[in-house]
Amino acid sequence: MKRAIYPGSFDPLTNGHMDIIVRSAAIVDELYVGVLNNRAKNSLFSVDERVSMIKEMTETISNVKVVSFDGLLVDFAREIQANIIIRGLRAVTDFEYELQIAQTNHVEYNEIETIFLTTSLQYSYLSSTIVKEFAAYGGDISQFVAPQFVDRIYDKYGIDPEKRCRKQ
Ligand code: PNS
Repeated sequence: MKRAIYPGSFDPLTNGHMDIIVRSAAIVDELYVGVLNNRAKNSLFSVDERVSMIKEMTETISNVKVVSFDGLLVDFAREIQANIIIRGLRAVTDFEYELQIAQTNHVEYNEIETIFLTTSLQYSYLSSTIVKEFAAYGGDISQFVAPQFVDRIYDKYGIDPEKRCRKQ
Protein backbone atom coordinates (compact mmCIF):
# COMPACT_ATOMS: atom_id res chain seq x y z
CA MET A 1 0.00 0.00 0.00
CA LYS A 2 1.59 3.25 -1.11
CA ARG A 3 0.39 6.07 1.12
CA ALA A 4 1.80 9.48 0.28
CA ILE A 5 1.54 12.94 1.66
CA TYR A 6 1.60 16.07 -0.46
CA PRO A 7 2.37 18.81 2.06
CA GLY A 8 2.17 22.54 1.61
CA SER A 9 0.77 25.84 2.72
CA PHE A 10 -1.72 26.00 -0.18
CA ASP A 11 -2.47 29.63 0.57
CA PRO A 12 -4.29 29.56 -1.79
CA LEU A 13 -4.44 26.33 -3.81
CA THR A 14 -3.28 27.09 -7.38
CA ASN A 15 -3.80 25.27 -10.66
CA GLY A 16 -0.19 24.13 -10.32
CA HIS A 17 -0.94 22.43 -6.98
CA MET A 18 -4.03 20.79 -8.48
CA ASP A 19 -1.95 19.44 -11.33
CA ILE A 20 0.41 17.80 -8.84
CA ILE A 21 -2.51 16.39 -6.80
CA VAL A 22 -4.17 14.82 -9.83
CA ARG A 23 -0.93 13.36 -11.17
CA SER A 24 0.29 11.99 -7.86
CA ALA A 25 -3.11 10.51 -6.95
CA ALA A 26 -2.77 8.46 -10.14
CA ILE A 27 0.56 7.02 -8.96
CA VAL A 28 -0.08 6.17 -5.29
CA ASP A 29 -2.83 4.22 -3.54
CA GLU A 30 -3.71 6.92 -1.06
CA LEU A 31 -2.79 10.59 -1.16
CA TYR A 32 -3.06 12.84 1.88
CA VAL A 33 -2.93 16.51 1.03
CA GLY A 34 -1.37 17.91 4.21
CA VAL A 35 -2.17 21.56 4.84
CA LEU A 36 0.37 23.17 7.14
CA ASN A 37 -1.18 25.00 10.05
CA ASN A 38 1.64 27.47 10.34
CA ARG A 39 0.92 29.80 13.22
CA ALA A 40 4.05 31.86 12.70
CA LYS A 41 3.19 32.60 9.08
CA ASN A 42 0.52 35.17 8.31
CA SER A 43 -1.70 33.27 5.95
CA LEU A 44 -4.36 34.80 3.74
CA PHE A 45 -6.79 31.93 4.32
CA SER A 46 -7.23 30.16 7.64
CA VAL A 47 -6.23 26.53 7.75
CA ASP A 48 -9.89 25.48 7.81
CA GLU A 49 -10.62 27.59 4.74
CA ARG A 50 -7.63 26.08 2.91
CA VAL A 51 -8.67 22.53 3.81
CA SER A 52 -12.22 23.12 2.66
CA MET A 53 -11.10 24.73 -0.62
CA ILE A 54 -8.93 21.70 -1.42
CA LYS A 55 -11.72 19.31 -0.42
CA GLU A 56 -14.04 21.14 -2.81
CA MET A 57 -11.55 20.59 -5.62
CA THR A 58 -10.73 16.96 -4.88
CA GLU A 59 -14.11 15.47 -3.92
CA THR A 60 -14.25 13.44 -7.14
CA ILE A 61 -10.80 11.90 -6.64
CA SER A 62 -11.58 8.91 -4.46
CA ASN A 63 -8.08 8.23 -3.08
CA VAL A 64 -7.42 11.80 -1.90
CA LYS A 65 -7.87 12.92 1.71
CA VAL A 66 -7.33 16.49 2.85
CA VAL A 67 -6.08 17.11 6.38
CA SER A 68 -4.26 19.81 8.28
CA PHE A 69 -1.11 19.24 10.28
CA ASP A 70 0.95 21.04 12.83
CA GLY A 71 4.63 20.70 13.65
CA LEU A 72 7.12 18.54 11.83
CA LEU A 73 6.15 16.91 8.57
CA VAL A 74 8.00 13.70 9.44
CA ASP A 75 6.01 13.36 12.68
CA PHE A 76 2.79 13.75 10.77
CA ALA A 77 3.96 11.26 8.12
CA ARG A 78 4.68 8.74 10.90
CA GLU A 79 1.31 9.36 12.49
CA ILE A 80 -0.62 8.61 9.29
CA GLN A 81 1.86 5.89 8.28
CA ALA A 82 2.82 7.56 5.02
CA ASN A 83 6.21 6.70 3.62
CA ILE A 84 6.23 8.94 0.58
CA ILE A 85 6.36 12.73 0.44
CA ILE A 86 5.38 14.33 -2.85
CA ARG A 87 6.73 17.73 -3.83
CA GLY A 88 6.44 19.66 -7.06
CA LEU A 89 9.59 21.09 -8.65
CA ARG A 90 9.06 24.14 -10.81
CA ALA A 91 12.54 25.27 -11.65
CA VAL A 92 16.13 24.83 -10.66
CA THR A 93 15.63 27.58 -8.07
CA ASP A 94 13.34 25.23 -6.10
CA PHE A 95 15.86 22.45 -6.17
CA GLU A 96 18.38 23.46 -3.51
CA TYR A 97 15.77 24.12 -0.84
CA GLU A 98 13.76 21.03 -1.70
CA LEU A 99 16.84 18.81 -1.68
CA GLN A 100 17.81 20.10 1.76
CA ILE A 101 14.34 19.44 3.18
CA ALA A 102 14.10 16.01 1.55
CA GLN A 103 17.48 14.95 2.90
CA THR A 104 16.74 16.26 6.39
CA ASN A 105 13.38 14.50 6.43
CA HIS A 106 15.07 11.29 5.33
CA VAL A 107 17.61 11.55 8.16
CA GLU A 108 14.81 12.19 10.67
CA TYR A 109 12.62 9.39 9.37
CA ASN A 110 14.53 6.76 7.49
CA GLU A 111 11.52 5.10 5.92
CA ILE A 112 10.32 8.24 4.21
CA GLU A 113 11.17 8.93 0.58
CA THR A 114 10.53 12.19 -1.24
CA ILE A 115 9.32 11.96 -4.80
CA PHE A 116 9.52 15.07 -6.94
CA LEU A 117 7.11 15.66 -9.78
CA THR A 118 8.18 18.25 -12.28
CA THR A 119 5.46 20.84 -12.63
CA SER A 120 3.65 20.83 -15.95
CA LEU A 121 5.15 23.45 -18.24
CA GLN A 122 2.14 25.77 -18.21
CA TYR A 123 2.40 26.12 -14.42
CA SER A 124 6.15 26.38 -14.09
CA TYR A 125 6.00 30.10 -13.21
CA LEU A 126 3.10 29.79 -10.78
CA SER A 127 3.12 30.12 -7.01
CA SER A 128 0.66 31.10 -4.28
CA THR A 129 2.85 34.14 -3.62
CA ILE A 130 2.48 35.34 -7.22
CA VAL A 131 -1.29 34.80 -7.08
CA LYS A 132 -1.52 36.89 -3.90
CA GLU A 133 0.67 39.64 -5.30
CA PHE A 134 -1.50 39.93 -8.43
CA ALA A 135 -4.77 39.72 -6.50
CA ALA A 136 -3.72 42.38 -4.01
CA TYR A 137 -3.55 44.88 -6.87
CA GLY A 138 -6.67 43.64 -8.66
CA GLY A 139 -4.64 41.81 -11.33
CA ASP A 140 -6.12 38.99 -13.37
CA ILE A 141 -5.76 35.72 -11.46
CA SER A 142 -8.35 33.74 -13.41
CA GLN A 143 -5.72 31.61 -15.13
CA PHE A 144 -3.95 30.77 -11.89
CA VAL A 145 -6.69 29.37 -9.65
CA ALA A 146 -10.04 27.58 -9.93
CA PRO A 147 -12.87 29.94 -11.04
CA GLN A 148 -14.74 29.61 -7.73
CA PHE A 149 -11.71 30.90 -5.80
CA VAL A 150 -11.16 34.09 -7.78
CA ASP A 151 -13.66 36.26 -5.92
CA ARG A 152 -12.84 34.68 -2.56
CA ILE A 153 -9.23 35.77 -3.04
CA TYR A 154 -10.12 39.33 -4.16
CA ASP A 155 -12.50 39.56 -1.17
CA LYS A 156 -9.61 38.92 1.19
CA TYR A 157 -7.91 42.03 -0.16
CA GLY A 158 -11.10 44.09 -0.16
CA ILE A 159 -10.75 44.70 -3.91
CA ASP A 160 -13.78 46.53 -5.28
CA PRO A 161 -15.73 44.13 -7.61
CA GLU A 162 -15.68 46.82 -10.32
CA LYS A 163 -11.91 46.90 -10.25
CA ARG A 164 -11.40 43.15 -10.46
CA CYS A 165 -9.60 42.11 -13.57
CA ARG A 166 -11.00 39.16 -15.52
CA LYS A 167 -10.11 37.42 -18.76
CA GLN A 168 -12.97 37.64 -21.24
O1 PNS B 1 3.90 25.15 0.25
P1 PNS B 1 5.15 25.34 1.04
O2 PNS B 1 5.01 26.52 1.96
O3 PNS B 1 6.37 25.42 0.15
O4 PNS B 1 5.34 24.03 1.96
C1 PNS B 1 6.43 23.90 2.84
C2 PNS B 1 6.26 22.68 3.76
C3 PNS B 1 4.87 22.70 4.42
C4 PNS B 1 6.38 21.41 2.96
C5 PNS B 1 7.39 22.73 4.81
O5 PNS B 1 7.48 24.01 5.34
C6 PNS B 1 7.17 21.75 5.96
O6 PNS B 1 7.29 20.56 5.79
N1 PNS B 1 6.82 22.29 7.14
C7 PNS B 1 6.54 21.52 8.32
C8 PNS B 1 7.63 21.71 9.35
C9 PNS B 1 8.82 20.83 9.03
O7 PNS B 1 8.73 19.62 9.01
N2 PNS B 1 9.96 21.48 8.78
C10 PNS B 1 11.20 20.80 8.56
C11 PNS B 1 11.63 20.79 7.13
S1 PNS B 1 13.36 20.46 7.15
